Amino acid sequence: MQTHIFSTAAQVGQATAMLIAAQLLRKPDSVLGLATGSSPIPTYETLVGMYRTGLLDFSKATSFNLDEYVGIDPHHPCSYHAFMQEHLFSHINIKPENVHIPDGNAEDLTAAAKKYDASILASGGIDLQLLGIGRNGHIGFNEPGDHFVYGCHKVSLSESTIEANKRFFDSVDAVPRHAVSLGIGSIMQARQVLLIATGEDKAEAVRRALEEDVSPQWQASILRTHPDVVFLLDEAAASQLKHR
Ligand code: GLP
Repeated sequence: MQTHIFSTAAQVGQATAMLIAAQLLRKPDSVLGLATGSSPIPTYETLVGMYRTGLLDFSKATSFNLDEYVGIDPHHPCSYHAFMQEHLFSHINIKPENVHIPDGNAEDLTAAAKKYDASILASGGIDLQLLGIGRNGHIGFNEPGDHFVYGCHKVSLSESTIEANKRFFDSVDAVPRHAVSLGIGSIMQARQVLLIATGEDKAEAVRRALEEDVSPQWQASILRTHPDVVFLLDEAAASQLKHR
């Protein structure tokens, strides 16, 4: 495990983009696990810049997103489908048929989740998984609980997540109460994991993940058992760490 602490969120984004770029240069047909939320936006901006200058080519890459809200129209501006279009996919040359995002409107969510895990396996598995972290330590939408869930599944969002994510919606009532998320097992199977955390409101989750016992109450703590994980933090997110 490696932890890098940078002065600013912009630097975290640039460093993360460099690691993703290195992966793509080494393996143009990489399978990328992608994340939403405000944390990866500087990373996506940097990747788009690298693509525009001709440094990067996404034409052979495949992507699998971590999660999506249940019951939200994919065109709704707060859907993760729309987020990915806005911040990354519409600016680069990834092939639409190589892009995968969980379907939060599937009639049978359990069957769709199983199918999602199966397509990840069929693609050869995720080479590099990008993650943010919730204030409550969630990764994807794997909320605090008494166990880790292995596969892609439907989740009931916790009050703290609804509260944290209401900033993207018109009101707290508009935030969906459920989501579909890649499970911890699927995330842990990625060959390489990059976790981004920026801002003081992530400091407790980062400390719990890095310096407390591995526990499903702080789901990101499981990442410490992954053989190739890099935490990319800004000073604010690292501010509660005792061992720097
Ligand atoms: C959301 C997403 C996560 C993301 C987290 C943090 O709920 N499901 O994948 O990592 O919240 O979001 P942000 O980066 O906006 O703080």
